[in-house]
Amino acid sequence: MADLDRHEVQEQALDRDCTTLSRHVLQQLHSFSSQAQDLSAIMNRIGLAAKLIARRLSRAGLMEGVLGFTGDVNVQGESVKKMDIYANEVFISVFKQSGLVCRLASEEMEKPYYIPENCPIGRYTLLYDPIDGSSNVDINLNVGSIFSIRQQEGNDIDGEAEDLLQDGRKQVAAGYVLYGPSTVLVYSIGTGVHAFTLDPSLGEFILSNENIQVPQHGPIYSVNEGNFWQWDESLRNYIRYVHRQEGYTARYGGALVGDIHRIFSQGGVFLYPGTVKKPEGKLRLLYESAPLAFLMEQAGGRASTGIQNILDVVPEKLHSRAPLIIGSIEDVAMVESFIQKGTKTLDETVMARS
Ligand code: AHG
Ligand code: MN
Ligand code: MN
Repeated sequence: MADLDRHEVQEQALDRDCTTLSRHVLQQLHSFSSQAQDLSAIMNRIGLAAKLIARRLSRAGLMEGVLGFTGDVNVQGESVKKMDIYANEVFISVFKQSGLVCRLASEEMEKPYYIPENCPIGRYTLLYDPIDGSSNVDINLNVGSIFSIRQQEGNDIDGEAEDLLQDGRKQVAAGYVLYGPSTVLVYSIGTGVHAFTLDPSLGEFILSNENIQVPQHGPIYSVNEGNFWQWDESLRNYIRYVHRQEGYTARYGGALVGDIHRIFSQGGVFLYPGTVKKPEGKLRLLYESAPLAFLMEQAGGRASTGIQNILDVVPEKLHSRAPLIIGSIEDVAMVESFIQKGTKTLDETVMARS
């Protein structure tokens, strides 16, 4: 190889190694404006939170006080894990004294948490699910964190944060961290979806997959079929349809982030529908469904409640839930067609589509 070529190859390799999260945000915005600097710094802090959480998870079985429950029940009525609390506090700590985020709202806190020293300079709110899929923590399977950034509107400095009760198109940025064999951070600021892998030797998230596109159709259907008899007949019909067709395969890991990460690369659909007892389903709009829907649309997919685009849903409360059907555009449309046909028989629904 000529010296010049070798030099170019080395330069490209170095450039790739230096494409960190904060630099990537600035590149995406083609600007050093104060908003671009803010978003870059916010993403950098989220990366720090992810590293702290990943570090604790990686040694969980060796340390005291990491695994198991706290004995408390959160505002959702769910038993709280020690890792839920640790991760919740990590996000608060990394944003203290940042001048970036005035408010944080999470699954683990009944009301938004204000960081007075950041207000009113910090014009953003961070919404987050600190540990998603926390039932997987104690068995050393993948878990995640989900985040969403919204511009703070009005002068709410310690109120009920009513300005957050708006649709998902108000999100400025969204993403998730997957704590798996490697730690991967996926984000979007409305300019495509990009993945970064934590290089432990550098302690940095390095660009590993730019402009992710979800296939238009895929083989995966991901749903907790244990709830089959709790669903509406129309959903049961969709599942019966999938069982009868060739080319579908079931995957369900009990952690939304992992299940959706698989769909980003292989295509298909993830569903958490409402049940007879819980028509709104389980997943929370502001810090679970809406950020994932934002990412999925940016990657060319869709997210729906079955009758409405998730990004158009306006939550009534901070912790509102909604049914979620998310993934490849054709697979989401297929589920919607079953739901919208209501209780027609399976054969009638398939006939109506053909
Ligand atoms: P969380 O741990 O944040 O409460 O979220 C758990 C969610 C989601 O990650 C997963 O897809 C779903 O709950 C699993 O619920 P089921 O056990 O009802 O299938
Ligand atoms: Mn969750
Ligand atoms: Mn959670």
